[in-house]
Amino acid sequence: MGAKDMRGRTVWLVGLSGSGKTTISSALGEILEKRNQRVSILDGDVLRKGLCSNLGFSEAERAENIRRIAHVADLLADTGATVLIATISPLQVHRDIARAILPDQLQVFVKAPLSLCEARDPKGLYRKARAGDLPEFTGIGAPFEEPIDPDLICNTDTENLQSCVQKILLCLEEDMGSSPKNGSRSLR
Ligand SMILES: Nc1ncnc2c1ncn2[C@@H]1O[C@H](COP(=O)(O)OP(=O)(O)O)[C@@H](O)[C@H]1O
Ligand SMILES: [Mg+2]
Repeated sequence: MGAKDMRGRTVWLVGLSGSGKTTISSALGEILEKRNQRVSILDGDVLRKGLCSNLGFSEAERAENIRRIAHVADLLADTGATVLIATISPLQVHRDIARAILPDQLQVFVKAPLSLCEARDPKGLYRKARAGDLPEFTGIGAPFEEPIDPDLICNTDTENLQSCVQKILLCLEEDMGSSPKNGSRSLR
């Protein structure tokens, strides 16, 4: 088997804070690991503490954050791991950067209304943003553009975690036949 055949899939989860990216990626990762796949999870929150700790939340710094993460994902995918990436990626320009570096990614829009994300507020960040402590928080003081061409949408307001994970698994299975990197975006 050549190195190209060994390349792992990349799944990029995009959505508001509190939409469910981290929850879905860890549940999906567990299932894939049980199937003896190697999995790497690149979570924006985690990477911002290390690789991207010098970056803030301006549009340009968010773009640089995405660029770095995409390149790391590319290297990991080359080792054969399935790479699950969870970042807000608020603007279309950010998703375009990610797509240019990882053309074969499965882009999943993890979708929930802002009001629900704010009600969930799993990390208390919306409360802080409303109090003015996080001025560039996506959805409050900074914009979120809905992805224009996601490969898949997980509506986490109406679909439970298990359905969201199953949907992504099905997409990955259906796409197994197509050749990564030079493959067409057969899921669109
Ligand atoms: N279908 C679903 N998929 C993912 N998370 C869900 C879903 N339904 C409810 N939730 C809840 O929403 C919250 C999402 O939080 P989190 O995964 O940290 O979001 P994000 O990583 O996008 O900021 C969790 O508390 C999770 O239990
Ligand atoms: Mg998260």
